[in-house]
Amino acid sequence: MTTSPLMPQPKHFKDLQQIAAALVAPGKGILAADESTSSIEKRFQSINLASTETSRRDYREMLFTAPGVSEYISGVILYDETIRQKAANGTPFVDLLQKAGVIPGIKVDTGAKDLVYCPGEKVTEGLDGLRQRLQEYHKLGARFAKWRAVINVSQTLPSETCLIANAEALARYAALCQESGIVPIVEPEVIMDGSHTIERCYEVTERALHVLFNKIYQHKVALEGLLLKPNMVIAGSECKQQADVATVADLTIRCFLRNVPAAVPGIVFLSGGQSDQLATAHLNAMNAKNKSLPWPVSFSYGRALQSPALKAWGGRKEGLEAGRKAFAHRARLNSAARHGKYTAAME
Ligand code: 13P
Repeated sequence: MTTSPLMPQPKHFKDLQQIAAALVAPGKGILAADESTSSIEKRFQSINLASTETSRRDYREMLFTAPGVSEYISGVILYDETIRQKAANGTPFVDLLQKAGVIPGIKVDTGAKDLVYCPGEKVTEGLDGLRQRLQEYHKLGARFAKWRAVINVSQTLPSETCLIANAEALARYAALCQESGIVPIVEPEVIMDGSHTIERCYEVTERALHVLFNKIYQHKVALEGLLLKPNMVIAGSECKQQADVATVADLTIRCFLRNVPAAVPGIVFLSGGQSDQLATAHLNAMNAKNKSLPWPVSFSYGRALQSPALKAWGGRKEGLEAGRKAFAHRARLNSAARHGKYTAAME
């Protein structure tokens, strides 16, 4: 695999480009439904529901069979359990998604662990045996993957050690994915928790992207065959001075124009704890104001797509229809935000 345009194109290059382009097709975005068993348990606690294999299946089946899924959702990031799971009628989830024209993806990292000698910081693990796991996931139908790095912010964090260790892992993961014909979604998440200002988030995001793309270059990852899944540039959730929507959009676009190569086929933002409405409004403002960006600006939301659906469902059979509707509504609004055509009145 090479990044040089003068070298022969690497194996799978065309496939990777096609998959990446399909994932950021106009008006479509990605649903992140890859919560680990412990994360989904926490989400279910909010509706007083026990997390079992069946309740997790019912919930995900509700999302995957919502009306409008084919129209607004290009791909779904699955968890290991879900990619092997079947809908209640026995259809494998992977088949169900593929039939709807939705590309199955898979979370392949094994979680963020404490980074030794760096108090308050994390490094994401999961490289051991990854080549074999990717080959298996490809056979199971996955055509893209996700790896999330956690970058905590304080007055002194992140350390250079944290940024380098996480970027190195992301780049090695990305190279392995491309070798297997799987598009890597590269996710360096600058965490919203904390009282830091939006300017501090800008500075940290810029540093993280700079280190990341350096490592991506060193590991000969093809920029044309990956997607970037970043945080927006936004004040910490406990910061008293929250920026308005236009400022978040402007600083985010400015930061990414300065730090993300134009060869990258798309930027798919995470929601990171923003409310569903704000996450849509921010995406919309970025697209409404900037009509000639080098890459499509899209979404790969977890909570911001799922929260209203989870509440409407409430773990009840009678709530399934309302849950599907709530999910379809959010997906449609984020689709409109991709064109800069969302308004609060559509809520
Ligand atoms: P949120 O949109 O809830 O941040 O989730 C996206 C995701 O996949 C985090 O890794």
